[in-house]
Amino acid sequence: MKRAIFAIVCSIAASGALAESAKTEAYRNAAVPAPASWQGPTFKLSHDYPQKKPEPCGVAECPWLGIDLPTKTNFTDAGIPVWKDGGVYDNYINAILDYVKKGQTPDLNNQEGFKVQVNGKTEWFHIPWMAFDKHTGREFVHGLTNERTAVITDFYGEERLGLHSLIGATPGNEQGFETWAVGMYNSYGGYTIGQSWSKKGTPNIETINGVKATKGMPFMQGTVVVKFLFTTATPEEVSYLKGSPEWQADRHVEVDNKFQCKREVQTVRLVQVDVAVVDERSPSRWVYGTFAYIDGKGKTVWDNLKPVGLQWGMDSWTFPAVPKAESIPARQSVLNKSISAFEHYGCNGRLAGPVDNKLSSCLSCHGGAFANTAGYTFSEGTYGPPVFGFEGLCTQYSQDNVEYFQTIQFPQGYTGGNYPDAMNMDTSLQMQIAMQEWALFKQNGVAAAACDIK
Ligand code: HEC
Repeated sequence: MKRAIFAIVCSIAASGALAESAKTEAYRNAAVPAPASWQGPTFKLSHDYPQKKPEPCGVAECPWLGIDLPTKTNFTDAGIPVWKDGGVYDNYINAILDYVKKGQTPDLNNQEGFKVQVNGKTEWFHIPWMAFDKHTGREFVHGLTNERTAVITDFYGEERLGLHSLIGATPGNEQGFETWAVGMYNSYGGYTIGQSWSKKGTPNIETINGVKATKGMPFMQGTVVVKFLFTTATPEEVSYLKGSPEWQADRHVEVDNKFQCKREVQTVRLVQVDVAVVDERSPSRWVYGTFAYIDGKGKTVWDNLKPVGLQWGMDSWTFPAVPKAESIPARQSVLNKSISAFEHYGCNGRLAGPVDNKLSSCLSCHGGAFANTAGYTFSEGTYGPPVFGFEGLCTQYSQDNVEYFQTIQFPQGYTGGNYPDAMNMDTSLQMQIAMQEWALFKQNGVAAAACDIK
């Protein structure tokens, strides 16, 4: 009898401790904290999310919403969008960049980084749980996380293979450049994040009209997301990175072209800036766009960010979502073909950025942002959509490609109904990661142990 009582008391104490550490893990600033001797910039997670639902964003604050973006599909040749400097697409993406750069330093310098406060008010918010994974999670200088490793052909195209000065840059044995990135949501997006996650670090999952979702979903119009992607490549290796902001990052040590688990503060350079906004006129409810940093005559760093394109749907009438014989040219992406440096774009006329997988596209990858409704992890491809691709991605007409390149919008399930237990995260892959990390924590109490070097 005594033993049984003891066991109960013990389990209560343990669950209290678990709750306490969920909060610590969810809202921690960095996977590995700065050493006591560190004097440089130090990342602080912005998680004082707005509690009150913001009023709809007017065109004074969100001027891109006042631009007549042609997102209605026209199947004639006239429906193939063309990028013009100073044209509608250029104006749309630059209106978003103007919003993003408000209150930031002209050189986006390392010391100040990206400031979450604009005019004395917190305007930018981060997603919780992204410092849980000790290998890829947020580093302490700027909160960057480790992402897809790029290869030299991403920067130059196939023709530069082997010509490149780097040791090891031969076909099949390409030099890898790690990508480290940080994403922020404005206050409209921050409202949804704050509804979706409790102060205890656990997700608030609710059912509305039979649909399970985290509270506050979907993201409301006015939401702006920005993501800064940094590369370990240097201007000697990729010449258009000259003058690019150099940030410090507690990133993986490189030995003989291989990235180790060990981290050390080293330099990374800005290569790509992604933006995403909710725009109710879009068939996916979102417009994704990206900029490449290209050395140029701009007075500020922001002026040297060149728009690469915009995307508002997956072009499900274009190969490989249909057989080649039925394919029409993409028209839910618009690409800036006059960009001065090499740019690889995405699958068959769809948009992808400089360090993204060229066989994918922004929205097809982001359309796979689903989490397990039961709050358990699912391994990618088995119970959850294959976000990062699969055999034959973009190269053959297949069921997987049909599903990967369909436009969906919240709260729809993934095309094909393959993942009935998956909950739509409204294109946010950071929310998906957070859900996955939380589920791992709940199951194991620790992040994935594996430290596999990509
Ligand atoms: C092959 C997959 C893939 C492709 C292609 C891709 N992304 Fe992402 N993106 C991710 C992942 C994974 C994250 C979450 C990790 C992070 O931000 O640290 C992310 C995060 C983001 C975020 C932060 C908000 C969020 O979803 O959590 C934005 C904004 C974004 N991407 C924009 C873009 C744009 C614009 C493009 C195309 C130019 C693009 N992405 C292409 C995988 C992809």
